[in-house]
Amino acid sequence: MGTKKRIGILTSGGDCAGLNPVIRAVVHCAVGTYGWEVFGIHEATQGLMASPPEYTRLHLGDIDRLLTAGGTVLGTTNKGHPFAFVMPDGTTCDRSEEIIAGYRQLELDAIIGIGGDGSTAILRRLAQQGNWNLVAIPKTIDNDVGVTECSIGFDTAVNIATEALDRLHFTAASHRRVIILEVMGRDAGHIALNAGIAGGADIILIPEIPYSMDKICQKLSDRQAIGKTHSLVIVAEAVRTGTGEQVINKNAMGQSVLGGIGQYLADRIFAASGAETRVTVLGHVQRGGTPSPMDRLLGSAFGTAAVELIAQEKYDRMVTWQNRQVVSVPIEDAIAQYRAVDPQDTLVKTARLMGVCFGD
Ligand code: F6P
Repeated sequence: MGTKKRIGILTSGGDCAGLNPVIRAVVHCAVGTYGWEVFGIHEATQGLMASPPEYTRLHLGDIDRLLTAGGTVLGTTNKGHPFAFVMPDGTTCDRSEEIIAGYRQLELDAIIGIGGDGSTAILRRLAQQGNWNLVAIPKTIDNDVGVTECSIGFDTAVNIATEALDRLHFTAASHRRVIILEVMGRDAGHIALNAGIAGGADIILIPEIPYSMDKICQKLSDRQAIGKTHSLVIVAEAVRTGTGEQVINKNAMGQSVLGGIGQYLADRIFAASGAETRVTVLGHVQRGGTPSPMDRLLGSAFGTAAVELIAQEKYDRMVTWQNRQVVSVPIEDAIAQYRAVDPQDTLVKTARLMGVCFGD
């Protein structure tokens, strides 16, 4: 079993379903199987920045309900860049050394960082500067981390968006309406593509395939012509307007937030075709709630594999899912490879062969 280790675990970036099953698996394996100590760091790197560090010692008795719990019991943040931390007076400063000091203060032998590509890149920079032993686990509902077929949170988000389409189908049919479902995914269309097929959307719009309004209206009128009086459209939040811009709003905190392409399209569809059109913006519902069985499986596989890497003292690696196996790759490679939807992907072909319109 080797020497007894003290390991940290943190969740970083936007939350999603499946993070708690990862934490549970790490504790089962590290504490239960190896007899190590696990420190759950609060709110990403901010728990290490605090002096003294803010953490919870995680024991086997603490993880009973984590398999089915949404979000992350450790808390997280997608703000507070350690190298350009925004201070209360609006200035920015490099607080990386404070975070590195937290790792040393806890006398950690290694740390598991659960994050998307952005937060994993930050953790790696901290690890290099502070000589940390880092193992990364990919999570993001956007599923855009290139080296893994699946990231934690994606499957649950697809399930939720599919269920939304299932429900919208009936109300759209009852009122003979076009209903547009706007989903998250940042610059990638994976959620829209997967849920669009699973939920039977008639039109799927993703950032990777440019659309024309004429093609969308043609599809709607073709459906009318064969007696289909309602239609479902799913659109990814980063799809662009006719003039090529993403729809981005500034919230009260001054942050730029994607959202609104659904309403933009609805207005144009009504103007061009007269079809009564409604919009549902699914938003953070996609990140909340009970993890799907797949996210629980993936979380269990990733959590235990990360502990195994630490047991073998193989660091600076990310665990990934490839051909139903957990395979680890250098973090450097993982963060270098962004994965958008490939327009030649088998799922795009599948949808096209079933008559789904991509607006092209
Ligand atoms: O990256 C995950 C994600 O949910 C994106 O799909 C979405 O655009 C963004 O985060 C929303 O971020 P926030 O929680 O800061 O509103």
